[in-house]
Amino acid sequence: MRATVDQERCVGHALCAARAPEVYELDDLGYNVTKSTEVPANLEEQARFGAQACPEIAIQLHD
Ligand code: F3S
Repeated sequence: MRATVDQERCVGHALCAARAPEVYELDDLGYNVTKSTEVPANLEEQARFGAQACPEIAIQLHD
């Protein structure tokens, strides 16, 4: 699975990293700076949980 983050949608809610700290990285202001990352199989559930938490629908998951 690959996770991509639309930087233009992200407004810094920081819920993604709260739910999936091993997948999503935030900058000092709380914006998701992950951009695009390959998610290991053991973190896929965490990645989904974090993506679903984003009110801006800024995170897309690709199988
Ligand atoms: Fe940004 Fe959504 Fe996370 S707004 S910081 S991608 S919860």
